[in-house]
Amino acid sequence: MRGASGTRRARVRALAKINLDLRVLGKRPDGYHELRTIFQTISLADTLEIAFTPGRATSVEMEDPLGIPDNLAVRAARLALEAMRASGRVEIGLRKRVPMGAGLGGGSSDAAAVLLALPALAGRVLPLPRLCALASELGSDVTFFLLGGTAVGVGRGNELFPLPDGPPRPGVLVAPGVHVSTAEAYRRLSPCLTTELQQNKIVAFPLQAWPGGDPETACNDFEAVVFPQHRQLAGLKRRLRQAGASPALMTGSGSAIFGLFRTGRDVSRALAALEGEMAFRISLVSRARYRALWWRALEGHIAQKIWPPQSRYAP
Ligand code: C5P
Repeated sequence: MRGASGTRRARVRALAKINLDLRVLGKRPDGYHELRTIFQTISLADTLEIAFTPGRATSVEMEDPLGIPDNLAVRAARLALEAMRASGRVEIGLRKRVPMGAGLGGGSSDAAAVLLALPALAGRVLPLPRLCALASELGSDVTFFLLGGTAVGVGRGNELFPLPDGPPRPGVLVAPGVHVSTAEAYRRLSPCLTTELQQNKIVAFPLQAWPGGDPETACNDFEAVVFPQHRQLAGLKRRLRQAGASPALMTGSGSAIFGLFRTGRDVSRALAALEGEMAFRISLVSRARYRALWWRALEGHIAQKIWPPQSRYAP
């Protein structure tokens, strides 16, 4: 795990998320919007190779074939080093599989992966509240990936309430290659949010609790402003519904659409019906599985299976 130069490395998977339900209540005085959502980690993931070499000088290098500007994972590494009062060289190799600008939280998950892995490699302890504060600074969705599984998100989406693990339902995710700007989607949605709607949503939301809720009542408020701009998205949702998905919904501010099914065979049929589209077979990843994946990825660097992962090199 530690090379001749003192380098410690790990290969970790940064899972994507979907929103099983997403309601936007209104604009807050700080400019963000108040949300009620249900986050869920899914099996689709990016892979990050993270290496840390202690040293006096600090540098963060990223090998990213896509050349993503101002990558959130690099910012996460800088913030984590600062918070740990650690110095050295961080090298990150990113293999991107999660479509970008699709509402799947890929960039946020990459950043959270760095926050979880770097302390384990650097032999420092960053307690969960500290990690959550760093995650919130990086973006509204980042905090969720410190938890994984199924969780209710309120506030900006960074105040989280874990829900019990549900059954591992199979699904299909369609990413039509349409890039939606989150800030722009919020701007379009904002004028549509009335006081009356807010009251209804506050009362109605707890009834959506997952996995006990009725999938037929699940909704994503962004569909109302994103579908008219990108007509093919409503068509994809309809095709997933026709193939038997329940629910079939856009995730986040779009543009990816997911459908959940009862069996793997239903998924195969749906994928055949979506031939020609960029469609993935997915499964919902529970919190227990999410943590198990992390513990395995950091094997050798951690002594015990506790959460968040704790470095075995920590004093
Ligand atoms: O927090 P994050 O950087 O991911 O948010 C991107 C943009 O989305 C913000 O600048 C803001 O315009 C909008 N947003 C919002 N309300 C939220 C989350 C994001 O208005 N709860």
